[in-house]
Amino acid sequence: MGPADTTLVDTPAAASSPAHSHGSAPAEVAFPKAIRSFVLRAGRTTSGQAKAVQELGPRFVLPYTGQPLDLMAAFDAAPVSEEQPRPTILEIGFGMGDATAHIASLLPQRNFLCCEVHVPGVGALLKRIGEQNLGNIRILAHDAVEVIDHMLPLWNASEPQIGLDGVHIFFPDPWHKKRHNKRRLIQPALVAKLAARLKPGGYLHCATDWQEYAEQILEVLGAEPLL
Ligand SMILES: C[S@@+](CC[C@H](N)C(=O)[O-])C[C@H]1O[C@@H](n2cnc3c(N)ncnc32)[C@H](O)[C@@H]1O
Repeated sequence: MGPADTTLVDTPAAASSPAHSHGSAPAEVAFPKAIRSFVLRAGRTTSGQAKAVQELGPRFVLPYTGQPLDLMAAFDAAPVSEEQPRPTILEIGFGMGDATAHIASLLPQRNFLCCEVHVPGVGALLKRIGEQNLGNIRILAHDAVEVIDHMLPLWNASEPQIGLDGVHIFFPDPWHKKRHNKRRLIQPALVAKLAARLKPGGYLHCATDWQEYAEQILEVLGAEPLL
């Protein structure tokens, strides 16, 4: 990993996980390690990506704070009106960001909050942001599950403008071996968390090319009462 990587990867939240905050407790017994939907792959960051991280990272990469995120401030974009911020779409796992940049360029009135843990992918999306002059993307280079848990508030009727208008999960890792299925992102617990953060009328868009995962996704989404 290059220097750009060390500034971006704050991901596995070792310091914040219960297993690490209880000294010498037998973590695997008392505090089972979280099952994550990714493994951090070593990947080469190109010089173009590293340059994009250096130059554009400070504006477009948001720090993982573990505190509720002020979306209006994060995007520093003019709201539609004082009460109505621009619609916000959460994307989980944008990979190299090709689809993300394309969609954001087609929908300039919407804001895209995008989570990815793969550092070269973060660099690649930043590069596209620069090339296409996109102002409506912000990146969190962190585990989306922790971002959802700690930084995205639940939708509530007393502040109806705070919430997500949509969620994009495109081609999540299929984890096709039976023993790895538990790592799949689309599980009832995560879907319930997303549904609780969507505004009424919001959408959840999942795509996969893995038949058996598609069937699981349909089953999980179909069983979520808020959707
Ligand atoms: C199979 S790739 C798909 C990438 C992209 N959406 C596409 O369609 O090309 C899945 C991506 O999700 C990312 N990912 C998996 N779990 C994640 C999580 N919990 N938080 C953030 N990113 C995650 C992985 O790093 C990987 O880049």
